[in-house]
Amino acid sequence: MTRIKLLDKEAVNKIAAGEVIERPASVVKELIENSIDSGATRILVEVAEGGKRLVRVTDDGCGMDREDALLAFEKHATSKISGADDLERISTLGFRGEALSSIASVAKSVDLTTKVRSEDLGVTGTHIRIEDGRIADEGEVGSPAGTTIEVRELFRNVPARRKYLKSGRAELARIVDVVTSYAVINHHISFELFSGNKTLFKSVRSESWNDPILRILGSDVARNLIPITAESKHVSVTGAVGRQTVTRSSPDWIMTYVNGRFVRSRALSRAVNEAYRTLIPSGRYPIAVISLRIDPSMVDVNVHPAKMEVRFLREEELAEMLTDAIHRALQKAEEKESAPRQMKALQATELGVSEGDGKADEAAAVHGPAALAGPVGPVEEGTGGEVQRTLPLTSGRERLDLDVAPLPGGLRVLGQALKLYIVAEGAEGLVLVDQHAAAERVRYENLAKKHVSGTISQELISPVTLELSPKEEVMLEDWGEVLEEMGFEIYPFGGNAYNVRSVPAIGQRLESPEVVHDVLRDLFALGKVGTEATAKDEILKLLACRGSIKAGHEMTWKEMHDLLRELFACENPKTCPHGRPTTVTISPVQLEKIFGRR
Ligand SMILES: Nc1ncnc2c1ncn2[C@@H]1O[C@H](COP(=O)(O)OP(=O)(O)O)[C@@H](O)[C@H]1O
Ligand SMILES: [Mg+2]
Repeated sequence: MTRIKLLDKEAVNKIAAGEVIERPASVVKELIENSIDSGATRILVEVAEGGKRLVRVTDDGCGMDREDALLAFEKHATSKISGADDLERISTLGFRGEALSSIASVAKSVDLTTKVRSEDLGVTGTHIRIEDGRIADEGEVGSPAGTTIEVRELFRNVPARRKYLKSGRAELARIVDVVTSYAVINHHISFELFSGNKTLFKSVRSESWNDPILRILGSDVARNLIPITAESKHVSVTGAVGRQTVTRSSPDWIMTYVNGRFVRSRALSRAVNEAYRTLIPSGRYPIAVISLRIDPSMVDVNVHPAKMEVRFLREEELAEMLTDAIHRALQKAEEKESAPRQMKALQATELGVSEGDGKADEAAAVHGPAALAGPVGPVEEGTGGEVQRTLPLTSGRERLDLDVAPLPGGLRVLGQALKLYIVAEGAEGLVLVDQHAAAERVRYENLAKKHVSGTISQELISPVTLELSPKEEVMLEDWGEVLEEMGFEIYPFGGNAYNVRSVPAIGQRLESPEVVHDVLRDLFALGKVGTEATAKDEILKLLACRGSIKAGHEMTWKEMHDLLRELFACENPKTCPHGRPTTVTISPVQLEKIFGRR
């Protein structure tokens, strides 16, 4: 008896479908791509339950006649290429002829209603209903020109897949990503995303991508975008990148497009990050929208059925070109900005406010003429404005004996090194303390205590209004309860505006809209809410990090002592909330080894 059997068509389809259609967002992606290929000027996406119950995409594109409509659901049926040769020069988003057949094989039902655009008015359209992968109904129907495809109960008959879907809102967040990323590059098409009974996103047809970008990234970010361009023989690059001052905690905001296709490319993301490498702290990512027009023969989009990955010929050259273009744009923007600052510095020196230590520029930039005009300039935080500066390690003995209460364990602070570490001496040897990690630990435990005692919430003196992006709105609903418990009071304020009345009491730093928004954004970047306990812990960690003394902050003598005292009063003083060490002790023996004394 033979053991090898050829699978029947249904099984083959389901297996293949798994690669193209992974979740509701993949359905949305494939249907939108078809609508774009059809020459639509308007695309409406309606979903229910994060697309799990329903995805309906309506366009005003070229439509299909009855024959094509029937063929469209056949596997490998496509109007976009006619042979293998065409794979070398793909100009449409689709070409594999797999999407509709795949969707039909994994959804409970698919309804297609379509009418050819060019046909005379009055001619009826075609309706085809597919149930469980088979044509269940077919006939004529009144229809406007264009196509509507309605997909119900995705994976109803594929329990293994259905199980892996996330909550409706988590799936919805992915759908928002798909719709918005296509809206940016297809700004000549108006998009609308409708879910529940709400329009989550809407863009208007426009000449440039400024309109969709503004709607997606918000005006704060849009204001801080710098245009980039570059051109070589095979590639032209256009894009907009964020200034180094606006960063995100995840690389999700690096949006890359190749010939109008939204792609995830490690090579491109790396090239973007490279341009910012020395400009932004590690763990932070820039914002960038990058569109490449590239000779189709130089790029392979046929790497994976979902067509999200691409492979480039001469990848390194391309990456270098992109990094370079961003670098130049950032530099130019910086030059423009620093011009007025240098002016100020000059004035300051003339006025004699420089501290006379040869750092006139720096001093003036911080304390500058504003210091003369009153308390407008930035005041150093947490130190009550005292002017005492860090002592260099070589400073005189008398200053080391400054009047501060002794530290536990006989620890003696020697100074601060590299604006990063407190250097101290204790019974066990030389002690180095990472000031940021230590401050984070202290904050974290304080916040946790406040949370337990129900005193974490702090009413804002004046409420802060935020404008959330479509995806953030969806995430906010997901995080809502946990946020409330952690001290946030956030109310809808009409449209995409939200009113924040209370925030966790971590000090004054959460008073400005940008900072509150930033905290929420970082939180949303974590993705789905896990268990309630982990979600709360994530919020605590994030807040702890927010309010803490940063690396690079010059600490006063008193600040160092206060921080160490607080650190040693912690339950877990040895690590920061993320598990990194706060303290490293180098024993006399280790030191001797380093110096070759042993
Ligand atoms: N919204 C639409 N408007 C017009 N034609 C469509 C639409 N969606 C699908 N089609 C037709 O159905 C065919 C099959 O679609 P699909 O399975 O997505 O494969 P592909 O897009 O790779 O060609 C397309 O080639 C196109 O001719
Ligand atoms: Mg397609």
